[in-house]
Amino acid sequence: MTVKTIILAAGQGTRMRSAQPKVLHKLANRSLLQHVYDTSKRIDGNEIIIIYGHGGERVKQTLSRLDVQWIEQKEQLGTGHAVLQADSLMENEDTVLILYGDVPLLSKQSIDSLLANVSQQTIALLTVNLDDPTGYGRIIRDTSGSVLKIVEQKDATQQELQINEVNTGILAVRGEQLKSWVRRLDNSNAQQEFYLTDVIEMAVNDGVKVKTSQPETIDEVLGINNRKQLSHLERVYQSSQADRLMEVGVTLLDPARVDCRGTFTALGQDISVDINVIFEGDNSIGNNVIIGANSIINNSIIADDVEILANCIIDNAVVGAGSRIGPFARLRPQAELSEQVHIGNFVEIKKSTVAKGSKINHLSYIGDATIGSKVNIGAGTITCNYDGVNKFRTVIEDGAFIGSDTQLIAPVTVGKNATIGAGSTITKNTPDEQLTLTRSRQMSIQSWQRPVKKEQ
Ligand code: UD1
Ligand code: CA
Repeated sequence: MTVKTIILAAGQGTRMRSAQPKVLHKLANRSLLQHVYDTSKRIDGNEIIIIYGHGGERVKQTLSRLDVQWIEQKEQLGTGHAVLQADSLMENEDTVLILYGDVPLLSKQSIDSLLANVSQQTIALLTVNLDDPTGYGRIIRDTSGSVLKIVEQKDATQQELQINEVNTGILAVRGEQLKSWVRRLDNSNAQQEFYLTDVIEMAVNDGVKVKTSQPETIDEVLGINNRKQLSHLERVYQSSQADRLMEVGVTLLDPARVDCRGTFTALGQDISVDINVIFEGDNSIGNNVIIGANSIINNSIIADDVEILANCIIDNAVVGAGSRIGPFARLRPQAELSEQVHIGNFVEIKKSTVAKGSKINHLSYIGDATIGSKVNIGAGTITCNYDGVNKFRTVIEDGAFIGSDTQLIAPVTVGKNATIGAGSTITKNTPDEQLTLTRSRQMSIQSWQRPVKKEQ
């Protein structure tokens, strides 16, 4: 079975009050359209078609790397007209699935149950019962419960408006049938639009039965029209992510105050996450990891038994087992820490490796450096890696001790077990085992008198 998914995304989205097309707005840092794409991509052998609107070039540009066929709907003449644009791409034998670029949380499970309901004799429709069905198309059934048609809010009689079962818009049908029906649609209705929903009545007239199914939750089929609805679905999504984390053995001190805007490539047991932690990108987190409040972990690998104290930013970095980071530390891209490394407050590390057991505990900048094992870097040490044009490396070999307030002017190597006296500016390689320091001699002036203010 070849499934072709048509994602309708041509709507303007004026109620977002945004210069940006609606489907590019983000939920958990992924655009709405990307969510729909990612879910439908999980259907085996699925081919995806996106219908974008006039002025929607930005959608196409922004998501150009998606494996889809883009079709422009120049004028928005209705959902049926939108589907008609894909006419030439639908084969008779295809099962065609209709999704919406602004309905981001539809589950794979709901799609699967729709696809299971499609045959030559049946069209599959996803419906939902709403306490307040205002605005939606109503599902009209006969006395035996068979679906007869869908009536849009603006075309409905008073009696039909009482119906709580509504059309989600999501349906699946054989290509041959869909093509024959959408070609025959007309726009003689209250909105003078070509309604996709009219294919339901056509199906019934052609002796094709309508099989309905319902999603597990209403949130799955909610579309986003304004920023309030966007924030609602963001919370829904975050709450389900938090549930998933707890299910696999993560402690969340408050599940309402953690945000997952990406995925976990690995998740160990007994991870504990304090409040206001944000996970972004793809993270891998080992066993017994503690993450302190207000930390952001982005695209990083955190090994077992790591403790990240409050207010840290870990960005495209690797933290080895048993290390302790923070509070207030920043690991930037390509910071790679081996086991049992200690990084303390106000320390920034960029594009550097730090070997086992080394400590950089206070107020330092380490960039473009290779740091050996058991190195101790004193407070306020700076690798001066940049001359304004070029970047140079600093190498600090095993067992070195760097006194506080040292500047290491790269390229430079500090030898094994070398000691650098506090306050030094190191411009040349320093020998192993020796003390090196650059320091002007201290002097005292015995006769010096501090100036005093004259009495008036
Ligand atoms: C549609 C359904 C309605 C259903 C509701 C669910 C029709 C006629 N009605 O109504 O039964 O209850 O969705 O939300 O289908 N779009 C295009 N091109 C167009 C028109 C729309 O791409 O020419 C896209 C929009 O971007 C949007 C979606 O289709 O994502 C739905 O369009 P919209 O106009 O919002 O339909 P509704 O009136 O809400
Ligand atoms: Ca709508």
